[in-house]
Amino acid sequence: MSAIASTKVPFIKTELPGPRAKEVLAKDERYVSPSYTRSYPLVIKRGQGSVIEDVDGNLFLDFNAGVAVLATGHAHPEIAKTIAAQASEFIHISSADYYFEQVTDLARKLEETTPGDFPKRVHFGNSGAEAIETALKLAFHVRRRPKIIAFFHSFHGRTLGALSLTSSRAAQRQGFGRQTIDVTHIPYANCKRCAYGKTPDSCAVECVKVIEDRLFKTTVPADEVAAIVVEPVQGEGGYVVPPAKFLQELRALCDRQGILLVFDEVQSGMGRTGKMFACEHADVVPDILCTAKAIGGGLPLSATVAREELMKWQPGSHASTFGGNPVAIAASLKTFEMLENGILENSRLMGARLLAGLGQIGEKYKDVVFDVRGLGLMSGVEFVEDRVSNKPAADLCNRIMVEAFQRGLILQTAGESTIRFSPPLIVTETEVDTAVELFDQSIAAALKK
Ligand SMILES: Cc1ncc(COP(=O)(O)O)c(C=O)c1O
Repeated sequence: MSAIASTKVPFIKTELPGPRAKEVLAKDERYVSPSYTRSYPLVIKRGQGSVIEDVDGNLFLDFNAGVAVLATGHAHPEIAKTIAAQASEFIHISSADYYFEQVTDLARKLEETTPGDFPKRVHFGNSGAEAIETALKLAFHVRRRPKIIAFFHSFHGRTLGALSLTSSRAAQRQGFGRQTIDVTHIPYANCKRCAYGKTPDSCAVECVKVIEDRLFKTTVPADEVAAIVVEPVQGEGGYVVPPAKFLQELRALCDRQGILLVFDEVQSGMGRTGKMFACEHADVVPDILCTAKAIGGGLPLSATVAREELMKWQPGSHASTFGGNPVAIAASLKTFEMLENGILENSRLMGARLLAGLGQIGEKYKDVVFDVRGLGLMSGVEFVEDRVSNKPAADLCNRIMVEAFQRGLILQTAGESTIRFSPPLIVTETEVDTAVELFDQSIAAALKK
């Protein structure tokens, strides 16, 4: 790790991809599923904090964190030590069939840290999609109603049940037949692009009213809806932050109709937005909360947290061999400890610094920047072709992402034309400022092409 620690980052010394990376890419192309969505040829050798070293010795500043997973950064010594210690005790036993104390410790931690001061139960899985599958099954099981309401441009995973909710890109559904679950999609509260033509002044939360005023009266009887599933901040759909009243009105509607409110905090949870869970910004408590990504300290782990009175299903109704793996749980407990001892606060502070920097970029490139938005370290910059049509500029957005890669800054897109920033939550001031500067250079270069 000494090269990483002592060298100014980023540091690009070969053309990209470098010679060793090219060898790996050739092998990958031969053996690995082409369904993966790699945007540029980053081949990692190791990482430390917010820095990645590739197989050719190039150093990158990582503002994606393995798609918003690595809250404590790459290879944090505390996390690595915890993983090694648990691995030398026992690596697997299956929490579905046997007991161990760490499962109960993490379930209790989740009851305490998720919004809602009431008893809860926790079901563990391995991925975001699994957490969603659990929430869907639980909602059907409890309510015995066949329908679900979800939102356009949402992403909830790619397994068949979760895919029925997912609606962020047609490619994710193309060729997979009809939805396996009866889901009705409606527009999300993307206020800058309001589907109902409203502005904040004229808005009466039409995006929630449509459910009672139109859906319930036409195609979706209220008493057939088990749950409404929503991301408190829309992630893959473009890092869209809805107004608090959107979630508050959804809560009120669900209460009126006996519908369960499910929050998908797979991406927005675990400190990403500067609070432990994004729904805390709106002060809204769901009936079921799904979280994954950062919860496992980099290892595969997810949790579906429900009000105790809802999670009363019989033994055998739902479980997974690996869900709640002891090593992932140990890493998770350590992640919680570190979040509570400073990292959550860093997410809030560095998030504000990043958003301010991106705001200046938005001003500088105001002819092509439609919006700069975010909460904590979950922020995005949306690009358009021009400020008259406000047409999403997908090509420009991709070019900026690739220019950033060439300069040693790891970014990803979200939605049609948004660059998203989701660095490790341990990111420093210098790293934030460097990323903003490199982003600036990348936009300038992409606009010249
Ligand atoms: C909000 C949200 N839900 C669910 C998922 C699916 O998670 P996974 O890829 O771990 O199945 C994702 C993944 O990006 C996500 O962002």
